[in-house]
Amino acid sequence: MAKSLTPIPYLFAILLLHVVSANSFAHPSLYNHFHKCLKKHTKPPSDQATISTILFAQSNVSYPSVLRNYIRNPRFNTSSTPKPSLIITPLHESHVQSTVICAKSVIPIQIKIRSGGHDYEGVSYISDEPFIILDLFNLRDVTVDAENGVTVIQASATRTLLLNREEKKNPRLPRRSLPHRRRRWPPQRRRVRQHAPARTLEQNAIDLVVQWQEVAPRVDDRLFMRLLVSPVSSATLRGQKTVRVSVVTLFLGSADELVTLLEKEFPVLGLNKKNCNELTWIQSVLWWASYNYTKPETLLDRRLNSADFLKRKSDYVQNPISRDRLEWIWKKMIELKSILFVFNPYGGRMSEISSDAMPFPHRAGDLFKIQYSVTWEEAGSVEKNYTTQAKMLYSYMTPFVSRNPRSAYLNYRDLDIGINTFGENSYEEGEVYGLKYFNDKFERLVKVKSEVDPENFFRNEQSIPVLPKKG
Ligand SMILES: Cc1cc2nc3c(=O)[nH]c(=O)nc-3n(C[C@H](O)[C@H](O)[C@H](O)COP(=O)(O)OP(=O)(O)OC[C@H]3O[C@@H](n4cnc5c(N)ncnc54)[C@H](O)[C@@H]3O)c2cc1C
Ligand SMILES: *[C@@H]1O[C@H](CO)[C@@H](O)[C@H](O)[C@H]1NC(C)=O
Ligand SMILES: *[C@@H]1O[C@H](CO)[C@@H](O)[C@H](O)[C@H]1NC(C)=O
Ligand SMILES: *[C@@H]1O[C@H](CO)[C@@H](O)[C@H](O)[C@H]1NC(C)=O
Ligand SMILES: *[C@@H]1O[C@H](CO)[C@@H](O)[C@H](O)[C@H]1NC(C)=O
Repeated sequence: MAKSLTPIPYLFAILLLHVVSANSFAHPSLYNHFHKCLKKHTKPPSDQATISTILFAQSNVSYPSVLRNYIRNPRFNTSSTPKPSLIITPLHESHVQSTVICAKSVIPIQIKIRSGGHDYEGVSYISDEPFIILDLFNLRDVTVDAENGVTVIQASATRTLLLNREEKKNPRLPRRSLPHRRRRWPPQRRRVRQHAPARTLEQNAIDLVVQWQEVAPRVDDRLFMRLLVSPVSSATLRGQKTVRVSVVTLFLGSADELVTLLEKEFPVLGLNKKNCNELTWIQSVLWWASYNYTKPETLLDRRLNSADFLKRKSDYVQNPISRDRLEWIWKKMIELKSILFVFNPYGGRMSEISSDAMPFPHRAGDLFKIQYSVTWEEAGSVEKNYTTQAKMLYSYMTPFVSRNPRSAYLNYRDLDIGINTFGENSYEEGEVYGLKYFNDKFERLVKVKSEVDPENFFRNEQSIPVLPKKG
């Protein structure tokens, strides 16, 4: 008995330490410090007047809602999730600059930067060290300088805001300033078509996937064909599970053209004109976002403070996966129950851009990207079950995906593939996830990082480390 009690005083000591250190950083002096410092460093002086409206201390009644509004994964919305000592919500670029100066200078404190997207792992608003959040949700302006051909889009702007401004201010602008071929920006009047037939195993879903792998990465550049694979209950075999496969497509052309093209290239799909909808580009955006056929203004709704629990992972496929292997994978998915796949074809424009032209490395040679996706609604202990499903499927997929490195997609942020503690081995730790996200571009990114931020002030669990100091 006595023995089993000994750990308790130890536990207390840890808890006390934790509380003390957390308190010292949540102290009101931090608020005062920032208030004063921002006033001093914000230029022009006209931007100083608004400083008292952009600082949210933990004691502020609005703090919880400001923090939650852009939490996009409730796994990171619990009472034990580390909270920022302060949230700063800039109204002007000058506020961003002075926040960085103040966080770096007087009390060095970590900054987490949040633009309000779909950060899967909460790295934009959580840290194990004392930190503040620089929340950019007010910075959503789009300014167009047609004369010089420069468009500035602030970090938090959405696609609809961009479209709204351009349509209202100057309807012809997209064509001139944003060449649509390069940016995939079709002019508004052009019609776009899509379809989504679904197949189960009993309906030759395997044939569909076999042919999709061959066609999707190399077909007409105007055609994007995403493939979804999910376990479902069988409609024909009572009480049995099967796998459903569906293809969701965006085509920049007419329905007739698409039907003709796919009859030739992808006959297994059996596309019918009935499966196609001819839409304007903005209506197709609404459709992709599952908003159906509502007004484009619906996209301005930022769905604040609402999200499902989720875990995502990613892989790249470089050789088509054979029929037998697909069958084996589907069986595993049925066993696991809740996890599904999204296959995104590469090829097309992606493989025309040279792999060393920019940091994004996944180019020629990648047939498609896999997103592993599991989503649930209940809080608490079920989380482990779902995240384990993701880990197991990822492990089953090892023989069928890229290796050395096993590549991953940065936007589908996944802390399982390695994190950095920024100790002595930060370079080696960084290599583990850095090579997966950036392949051989990692080395170059480390050089850039070492030059522009040698102190590693801007960092998160998977940021690029600096070169080890010599000597
Ligand atoms: C339902 C859903 C669907 C998605 N679909 C897709 C998809 O189809 N394609 C795709 O590519 N991705 C997709 N994503 C992923 C998502 O788009 C990315 O995670 C995206 O990069 C988030 O960008 P953000 O700028 O809003 O960043 P945040 O979520 O705010 O933060 C992401 C990271 O960027 C950093 N950061 C944010 N702003 C700045 C800044 N101004 N300067 C420096 N660092 C900054 C943050 O600190 C953090 O590390 C999806 C996510 C979800 C949840
Ligand atoms: C909360 O913070 C906001 C933004 O800085 C400020 O305008 C407001 O006065 C604060 N409220 C209280 C009660 O301190
Ligand atoms: C976060 O949790 C609170 C309750 O604790 C809830 O009201 C809120 O809707 C949640 N927000 C998100 C984004 O999960
Ligand atoms: C769109 O339509 C589908 C099917 O009719 C429905 O399940 C879904 O809730 C709708 N989405 C929205 C945002 O209205
Ligand atoms: C998840 O829970 C279900 C139902 O309780 C169980 O059958 C399954 O084995 C669990 N999966 C994992 C990966 O823990």
